[in-house]
Amino acid sequence: MARIELMGVAKTFATRSGDVQALASVSLDVADAEFVTIVGASGCGKSTLLNLVAGFEPPSSGKVLSDGVPINGPGPDRGVVFQQTSLFPWLTVVENVGFGLKLKANAGKAPVESTVETLLRRTGLLKFRDRHPAELSGGMRQRAAIAAVLAINPSTLLMDEPFGALDALTRSLMQDFLLELWEQDRKTVLLVTHDIDEAIYLADRTVIMTAHPGRVREVIDVDLPRPRTFEMHSDPKFIKIRDHVRDIVREEAAKGAYDETAA
Ligand SMILES: Nc1ncnc2c1ncn2[C@@H]1O[C@H](COP(=O)(O)OP(=O)(O)OP(=O)(O)O)[C@@H](O)[C@H]1O
Ligand SMILES: [Mg+2]
Repeated sequence: MARIELMGVAKTFATRSGDVQALASVSLDVADAEFVTIVGASGCGKSTLLNLVAGFEPPSSGKVLSDGVPINGPGPDRGVVFQQTSLFPWLTVVENVGFGLKLKANAGKAPVESTVETLLRRTGLLKFRDRHPAELSGGMRQRAAIAAVLAINPSTLLMDEPFGALDALTRSLMQDFLLELWEQDRKTVLLVTHDIDEAIYLADRTVIMTAHPGRVREVIDVDLPRPRTFEMHSDPKFIKIRDHVRDIVREEAAKGAYDETAA
């Protein structure tokens, strides 16, 4: 059974200037422990798709399932990381990372302190445990946000442009950091990015979406060995996939731009 399954999912938003169809008939399976990335032109519905899986929005039609069960709201089985962190600015790093866990622990689970300690160590934040989010670099903030989500031990990580606000070098380091965590935990990951290199470097499969309204245009198997290393960016296989994905994304982006002027 797929960990996450979308079956003929459509999503339409009602706005003051009429209905906006964000997604039209999206079907996609994500297997347990699979790393799937989603690319596509701006406005094609990537965030909408992720929000449906997160349970922040219901689909207009079709089904969104987690472990075969219809998703009808956010749940501890799905942890979400956004581009701008969802850390509480008034809490320190250690308090942020322990926050969700404490709620859960109140229900009689998990030794909070040791779990938080381990996560801070894994994310390289032990030294910064008593700082507030505003006192951290962008990369540290994203690592803290990832630690806070991992603390709840979700089976699936949903990430929407998690490194989108970072400079190129930090971004590249964060990709390796995320892969390292993933190699250890093998959680199911669904990650949205507009960075084609990032999409390929991280993924087992990359989903390319059509321009607005979003559908699945193509799913690419990224047949590169694991663990991934930075040098693979210049591997002929990587370059071939990248050129192909770039061509399709550009083609779709051009269609989207045309549609907008036509509307
Ligand atoms: N809450 C909403 N109400 C109305 N329209 C919405 C809403 N959320 C998204 N849309 C519309 O749905 C379409 C898809 O938006 P979405 O944010 O999913 O795109 P995206 O692929 O994530 O874009 P980007 O790459 O710029 O983040 C857009 O036309 C957007 O205007
Ligand atoms: Mg988006």
